This record gives sequence, C-alpha cells and structure tokens, in this order.
Amino acid sequence: MTDTATREFSTVGVIGLGTMGAGIAEVFARNGYTVIGVEQNDAGVQRGREHLEHSTGRAVKREKMTQAQADELLGRITLTTQMSDLAVADLVVEAVVESLEVKKSIFRTLDDIVRPDAVLATNTSSLSVTEISTANSKPGRVVGVHFFNPAPVQNLVEIIRTVVTEPDVLADVQELLRSLGKNPVVCGDKAGFIANTLLFGYLNHAVSMYEGKYASREDIDAAMRFGCGYPMGPLALLDLIGLDTAYEILDTMYKQGRDRLHAPAPILKQYVTAGLLGRKSGRGFYTYEAPDSPVVVADPQTPSADDKPQLRHDIKLVGVVGTGTMASGIVEVFAKAGYDVLFTGRGQDKVDGVVATITKNFDKQIQRGRATEEQKGEVLGRVRGTTSLDDLKDVDIVVEAIAEDLAIKTTLFENLDEICKPGAILATTTSSLPIISMAKVTKRPQDVIGMHFFNPAAIMKLVEVVSTVATDEAVTESVLALCDEVGKVAVKCGDRAGFIVNALLFPYLNDAVKMLEAHYATADDIDTAMKQGCALPMGPFELLDVVGNDVSLAIQKELYLEFREPGFSPAPLLEHLVTAGYLGRKAGRGFRDYSSR
Ligand code: CAA
Ligand code: NAD
Repeated sequence: MTDTATREFSTVGVIGLGTMGAGIAEVFARNGYTVIGVEQNDAGVQRGREHLEHSTGRAVKREKMTQAQADELLGRITLTTQMSDLAVADLVVEAVVESLEVKKSIFRTLDDIVRPDAVLATNTSSLSVTEISTANSKPGRVVGVHFFNPAPVQNLVEIIRTVVTEPDVLADVQELLRSLGKNPVVCGDKAGFIANTLLFGYLNHAVSMYEGKYASREDIDAAMRFGCGYPMGPLALLDLIGLDTAYEILDTMYKQGRDRLHAPAPILKQYVTAGLLGRKSGRGFYTYEAPDSPVVVADPQTPSADDKPQLRHDIKLVGVVGTGTMASGIVEVFAKAGYDVLFTGRGQDKVDGVVATITKNFDKQIQRGRATEEQKGEVLGRVRGTTSLDDLKDVDIVVEAIAEDLAIKTTLFENLDEICKPGAILATTTSSLPIISMAKVTKRPQDVIGMHFFNPAAIMKLVEVVSTVATDEAVTESVLALCDEVGKVAVKCGDRAGFIVNALLFPYLNDAVKMLEAHYATADDIDTAMKQGCALPMGPFELLDVVGNDVSLAIQKELYLEFREPGFSPAPLLEHLVTAGYLGRKAGRGFRDYSSR
C-alpha cells in the first residue's frame, strides 16, 4: 500500500481541541508538523491551549522533554476560531463533539475552504463516516482516523474506509500515521469500529452493575484492575473518555445494532444532563481535584477510614480443602501471611504434591533472590496436610477449592457442617456455582461465603468476597479484613453468576468471537486494537486461548442462563472450536495454532 503514497503532508488542521483534539494536535506537533487548531470560540481556544500546556508541562516535569523542546512544540501550533485559516492545510482532522449534525456542517463548510487535494478526516468514535463524508462535495477524500485516548499515549489508530474512500487517500493516511509511530488498523464503516464495539458493551455493563448497586464504584474498578490487569477500571475509564461522548457512542451503536447491551444505562444520561461529564468537568463517577485533572479526591461516596473492615472473628488456624492448582496457591497465600494452615486431600500423594508445589515455587523465588531458605522453612513449617476431613474440626475458617461441581461441593458442605466447630467460617472458591445452594445444606448458612481467588492465587491480588442473602455481615467483614491481612485486594459483591470480573470479562470475549465470525476484522487486528487502543495486557483471542475455550464457553453459558440476555448467548464459533477440540494453548490449538511453537 505504502508504495502508492503520493501526498506530502506538512500542515495539519485539527478542529475541536477538547479531550481528543488537543492530544491529536500534540501528536502532530511532536512529529514536526505545523498545526492549526480551530475552536468554536475564545473560551474553547483558551481551554485547548491549557490542555496542550498541561500535557507538555507534564512531559517536561517527567524529564521526557526539555522546556525548550516543549516551547518549540507549542510554537508549531497556532490556535484560531477561524475555519478559513485551514485553507493552507494538507490534512484536516475533525475532533468536535460526537454529533452527526455538527460534524456534517463542518465537512460542508470545509468544501469552500480547503484545497481540492486536501485530505479530510474525522475522529468520530461511532458515527457513520460515510454519512459525514457525503456532506463534502468530494467524499472520496474523507476517511475516519480514530485515535485513542490519550492520543499521545495509545498507539492504535483505526482508519475507517468508506465504500468511496479513494485508495491513494487511504494509503497516504496509513503511511502518515505510521510515520507518527502509530499502528493503523483499517476497518469498515460500522458503528463502534473494532475497539469501541468490544469496549462499550463492557463499559455499559459496568455502569449497570454500579447503578444496580451490585458493587461499589471502587470495587468494580479494582476488580478489573487486579483481576485482569487492566490499566484502569471501567468507571474511571468512562470518566477519562467523557460521559457525554460515551453516551453518544452507546446511543449510536444501539441505534445501529439494536443490541440491548448497548442501550445506554439510564444513569449515564442523568450524569450528562447534570453536567457531570467525567474528568473534563471535574466530576463524573468520581470527583477530581479540578476539571481535566486525573487526581481523584474524596467525596461522600468514598469509603472512610472508619469503614475499613475489621476482623470480627478470631482466626488462627486456616483450613483448605483440595490439592489442585487453586488450593495449593491458597495454602501458600495463608502460610506466607503467617497463618497456620491445615489442608486436606483425597490421598497422601496429592497432599505431598501440594507441599512439593509450594517448595518448588519457593526454590524459584530463592534462585531469583526474592526469598531465603529460612523463609521457606518457616512457611512450610506452618503448613500441615491430612487425608482426613475430620481433622478440620478446630479450624477457624475453611476455604474449599475442589471440583467445580455442585453435587460434589454440596456434599462437602454437609460434611464440613458436621465437622467444623460452631462459628467457623465456611468459604468456597467457586467461580460459577450459586453459593446459597452450598449454604442451604448446612445448619449455618450465615457462616457460608464465597472467596473467589484468581489463578495463580499466590500472585493475583484480587479476591471477590461473595455474600449470599443469608451471609452474616460480621462474616463478610471478617473475610474482607482477612483478605487485607494476607495482602489481597478484596472486593465485595453478591451471589450471582460471574460475580464482577467474569460477568464483565466473558461477554466482551464472546463479542470478540462474534466479531471474528462476522468477518468484520481478523483475530490479529482485534487483538492489536484492544492492546494498543485500550492498553489491555492481552487481546481477547490471546486471552481465550490461555483461559481455554471450554472454560470460557462454560462461563458464558452460565451467564446466559442466569441473565437471559440475548447478547450473552455463546458465539457459535466458540461452540464449534470446543466441539472440534480446539481448546486453546492446552490443546495446542485454539484460535491460533501452537503446535509448531
Ligand atoms: N495526555 C498525554 N499524555 C498522557 C496523558 C494525557 N492525557 N495521560 C497520561 N499520559 C502519559 C504520561 O505523561 C506518561 O508518559 P511517560 O510514560 O512518557 O512519562 C504515561 O502516559 C503514563 O501516565 P501516568 O503514569 O500518569 O499514568 P498511568 O500509567 O496510570 O497511565 C493511562 C494512564 C495512559 C490513561 C493508562 O491508564 C491507560 O492506558 N488506560 C487505558 C485507557 C484506554 O482504555 N483508552 C481507550 C479509551 S476508548 C477510546 O479512546 C475510543 C473512544 O472512541 C472513546
Ligand atoms: P470534547 O467534548 O472533549 O471536545 C470537543 C471539542 O470540540 C470542544 O472543545 C468543543 O468546544 C469543540 N467544538 C464543538 N463544536 C465545534 C465547532 N463547530 N468548531 C470547532 N470546535 C468545536 O470531546 P472529545 O472527547 O474530544 O471528542 C471529540 C471527538 O473524538 C468525538 O467525535 C468523539 O467521539 C471522538 N473520540 C473521543 C474519544 C474519547 O475518549 N473521548 C476517543 C476517540 C475519539
């Protein structure tokens, strides 16, 4: 494609210097381009200037550039309220509010201003680029260039090609973006393109969770950060994007696809109407130090120090049932934190296996200089294994991590109820079964709770603490405090399929499979889009292959059965891969083939 590049770009116009426009202007100026920034009035110009000065000021403070370089960069940018100043531009990038009417009027106006060979681009997140382009007399020179927020940071740019975009325009813009160090991915003109189609279902779902008081804003965000390694939680991300922009994106996507999951959660509209637009207005889901500041300050919803959970139970001896991956990780977590741990397995060989795994983990740490032989001895000294469940009679809390099968787990809870002393907390690590079904077979449902650890338990910080309708509040509080004691980040939620993390994660992965199945984009482009547009640690197909398609399908089916959301129905392609035995890395083949790697 690049060998067809014909244009030389040197002057770039940017219309709208808000969250995105200011960042886009900075990207071009950083790369030596002359930039003309157009705002609608003097106040807009002033805000645009502040955005630019703030961003370059931060780079200077962090010693990423010198003051002289920052001054030079800012010197390349002229700010104006006159669209006619764009007469000299080789490329114009429009980044005004997400409104079809406003954008069309701009593309109409540009007709009489720019040169006939100038390229026109829109940074729209979801609107039809085709429709925007037809407002101009030369729709063939119009493309979408969808930068990601913050534009100077995220490498992805989606280039949206309409059916009339001229091939040389596409090639030139691709080449230009590459020269800026960006990674352009070309896609067709469908509301939401690649990344937003996958991102906004997830974000909207998180808003509904918050609106329905399923979990607090802090817990929803912490769950995705610590459970999935996302750079920020969904509600903080919505504040960064801007709630007005997010509302418009969801509304456009809903109107095009009629997917209920894209119908903006009602509270979004309420925030927007109230002028709470996120970071840019100083308040959205969170409250910020000042408009445009990333610094969150306390507000009435912020948990106070007095709310810090306390240990309401005297916990000295921890019981663990199971000898698998999760159980051995959980034994390690408690023993490392100084607790005596008694775990049970179905045979001496399995019991010995847990000790061997912990020993091996320690040896690796010792080799890397992160632990000592002495620490290993201390920790192993606190761990005792047994093959008799009856030995758990004196534990203060027991955490079970046996097979994910309701019949097996309920039988275990009946037994634990008989064996464990009164007042002992009975916890399950189930990731998908109803905890109330386990509580109900005991005579102490108030003491039964979920502790959903993440794999590998010794490393992943998150624990979802799941209370049923019967769980005693003091039990919940003790378990939250206990998680804190052992160095975990605990989030609190209710007993329903997927808890926080899986309910937010798996429908997004499933949507990615549906997008692949619809041939809208390749697995590589989708993975790239999510990694380089949203800074996610893994693309959806990479993650599916690691998790296992069978596991993902089972979770997705649970979610579908519980919520009956048509949008949660498992993607047929996912079912087919599972039927074919393409389960992911563990099978040597999933969405990708690993057999020769
Ligand atoms: N402008 C310019 N640079 C910025 C910036 C901004 N607004 N915010 C952060 N940065 C820079 C910092 O200067 C810093 O640069 P250096 O490494 O060179 O020093 C770097 O980014 C990291 O910043 P911080 O250390 O302050 O903060 P962080 O490490 O917590 O990262 C983040 C902040 C970049 C926002 C990161 O949390 C992130 O990538 N989050 C995900 C954002 C995301 O998903 N974006 C996509 C939204 S969807 C979209 O854009 C499409 C749409 O249509 C709505
Ligand atoms: P914003 O509200 O932060 O900024 C919009 C700016 O456009 C404001 O400064 C406003 O004064 C200016 N403006 C409005 N009408 C104008 C006109 N007629 N002429 C000149 N300037 C005008 O919005 P934003 O978040 O920067 O979004 C801009 C575009 O970028 C939208 O299409 C949005 O969907 C898209 N986008 C947003 C994000 C994001 O995360 N916020 C990411 C990618 C793309």
